[in-house]
Amino acid sequence: MSLDKDKVPQHIAIIMDGNGRWAKQQGEDRIFGHHEGVNSVREIVEAAAEVGVKYLTLYAFSTENWNRPKEEVDALMELLVATISMETPQLNKNGVKLEAIGNLKSLPQGCYDELQQSIEITKNNTRLTLVLALSYSSKWEIIEAVKQLATEVKEGKTAIDAIDENSIAQHLCTKKYPDPELMIRTSGEHRISNFLLWQLAYAEFYFTDTLWPDFRKKEFFDAIKSYQSRERRFGKTSEQIKNEIK
Ligand code: IPE
Ligand code: IPE
Ligand code: MG
Repeated sequence: MSLDKDKVPQHIAIIMDGNGRWAKQQGEDRIFGHHEGVNSVREIVEAAAEVGVKYLTLYAFSTENWNRPKEEVDALMELLVATISMETPQLNKNGVKLEAIGNLKSLPQGCYDELQQSIEITKNNTRLTLVLALSYSSKWEIIEAVKQLATEVKEGKTAIDAIDENSIAQHLCTKKYPDPELMIRTSGEHRISNFLLWQLAYAEFYFTDTLWPDFRKKEFFDAIKSYQSRERRFGKTSEQIKNEIK
């Protein structure tokens, strides 16, 4: 089966997992795996732009990842700064706009500044929006949204009865993006790990045993092909969906 360019998801979200295990398999330490993982990021961003994906959200560092050994956290933050500054010219060349979601203020200052700079430099690009989830967790995001809404209610700016699906979505960090149609997780783990709980309510999930550093263009296109073979029913019956297509 070949990839149908007319049925590519607008928004794909990826849990990039398995760098540590990949490194261990090579007899190297975990950090080596994170470095190799950057090559996959580069290739997947380019492949996404090539097939016309409009939004690509990559889970790069979770709230829970702060609990890893300090050496690993420090190395990941350093890698992040180095990668962002190195890749910005190429992102620009490929028409990629960089954005970020998460508790960005909790990042080390140098990391935060580098990120903001790259966001600024790439802000006018329109081909693909690359969203990095950094110091992100869905429960954190939902708590923030609830606090904002509660404040608006208290200040009389929002009526309780006016709170609906849309107003909640508008208070999440993803308010500018459509919900992902496809969520990919590498490395054989079958869990969501606090990623986009609200936004993935009706996404198609694709799990693969491939470790992130081995997840490249071919594997990415395989995931999109799997998505294209599915029937998305949104609560309706298969017959209803077939009649709608006719
Ligand atoms: C994903 O790979 C990268 C991050 C979470 C930052 P891991 O570091 O989780 O690799 P494994 O799961 O231990 O193999
Ligand atoms: C999820 O991977 C977070 C990222 C990919 C950034 P983890 O490897 O941290 O997830 P768990 O803890 O094994 O579920
Ligand atoms: Mg992991």
